[in-house]
Amino acid sequence: MTSEDKNRAQFATRLGIIATTVGSAVGLGNIWRFPYEAGNNGGGAFLICYLLCIILLGIPVLCAEFAIGRTSRSNIFGAFHQLKASGKWHWMGYIGILASILILSFYSVVAGWTMEYMYQSIVGRLNFTEIDAFHNQFASFSSSNWRPILWTVLFLLCNYIIVVRGVKKGIEKMSNLMMPALFILLIIFCINSLMMPKAHEGLRFLFTPDFSKITPKVIVSALGQAFFSLSLGLGTMMTYGSYFSKDTRIVRSATITASLDTLVAILAGIIIFPAVFSFGMSPVQGPALVFEVLPSIFAQMPGAQIWSILFFFLLFLASLTSTISMSEVSIAFFTEEKKMSRAKASTINLIIVLCGGVLSALSFGYFSDKSFLGLCRLDFFSFFDFTSSNVLLPLGGMLISIFAGWILERSRLKDTLTNNGRIGVSTFPLLVFCLKYVAPLGIFLIFLFGIGFF
Ligand code: PFF
Repeated sequence: MTSEDKNRAQFATRLGIIATTVGSAVGLGNIWRFPYEAGNNGGGAFLICYLLCIILLGIPVLCAEFAIGRTSRSNIFGAFHQLKASGKWHWMGYIGILASILILSFYSVVAGWTMEYMYQSIVGRLNFTEIDAFHNQFASFSSSNWRPILWTVLFLLCNYIIVVRGVKKGIEKMSNLMMPALFILLIIFCINSLMMPKAHEGLRFLFTPDFSKITPKVIVSALGQAFFSLSLGLGTMMTYGSYFSKDTRIVRSATITASLDTLVAILAGIIIFPAVFSFGMSPVQGPALVFEVLPSIFAQMPGAQIWSILFFFLLFLASLTSTISMSEVSIAFFTEEKKMSRAKASTINLIIVLCGGVLSALSFGYFSDKSFLGLCRLDFFSFFDFTSSNVLLPLGGMLISIFAGWILERSRLKDTLTNNGRIGVSTFPLLVFCLKYVAPLGIFLIFLFGIGFF
């Protein structure tokens, strides 16, 4: 063991590992992005593609990221170096930084919306009786020019303050408390939604797949959502894998993380869709969906204000644990590759992401009626989201699976997955098969399908 191994922080407890990896995975992706993607892409048809992507592609790639992280004890830049990969494998790191910057740029805007809704709940301004009022409220807020920017900046500053100090222990402790609290709240809201008059219509929409609705767009969106939700393809989970102790069971941790993450997304769907149908709304509303439906649900519950404050506060924390994990990718690049101090690296990251965040926030306001050379709308928000989630993350995931399946020595992969032979992993041959063939080919074919090749 090198001195670097000994000095590298490790998770304190088994619960800490799960809470922290789930802390990165669970966030706006589950509660905001999953319901709106499912709503836009046919409900059940989307869910089935999503689940297949998680099982066949997501879990194997998650195991690969954890394994590469732990065996190299390094982040995405150092890992390929450590594992003596020749050629251009370190380019993976550049895909990771680009993806993390693009995601942070639009994610922080939505996290800012969460802060605005927390604030509005605290001052008691989310107590409309008409559903339309929630729609108008979101439309006028998101299209205003300065408010969303203000919250985006505030959110990024919160993220900066935590990231610049590099507090790993703090994140572990916060996740240990926050994840169970969020989970309990979601269960309560689920029960509430299931008692709504048209709950069965919402459940049918989410759980009964209409196979005729499965189009290339639905499959590409499901793949992007799976990678986004599991924080895969940009090296975040690799970094967390590098903090695993030698006793951490990788396959088990990956399966638990993916299962809990998927459960939270499905719970969010069970909260949103019964309400959408009961309130006579359309499920196809895009990014606004959750911010119109959730406050309408709270407004009908006894003690509305408390639920609303609690929920938006926990969602804010869940967003923060996700953005902290993605910031680590570019900060690792500046500190380890460019030898900058952590403070300088975090500041550069902040400045770049602030610019991206402002462009994304203005996509709903100032840029909403502007076009690029008359060709397309200047929608930076959707462009950043699409490029990162549907292109860069699956591409990163495909390369990671190729690396783990074809380049990394098989004995090394086996040693790290079996904790040097101390535990049996009966799924090892299946996992290798998925990493060698299913994941790379699956992702590649979905890409071809998505660009209309077939
Ligand atoms: N998985 C997070 C979510 O669902 O909100 C988003 C995310 C976090 C994506 C970290 C990528 C990442 F590296």
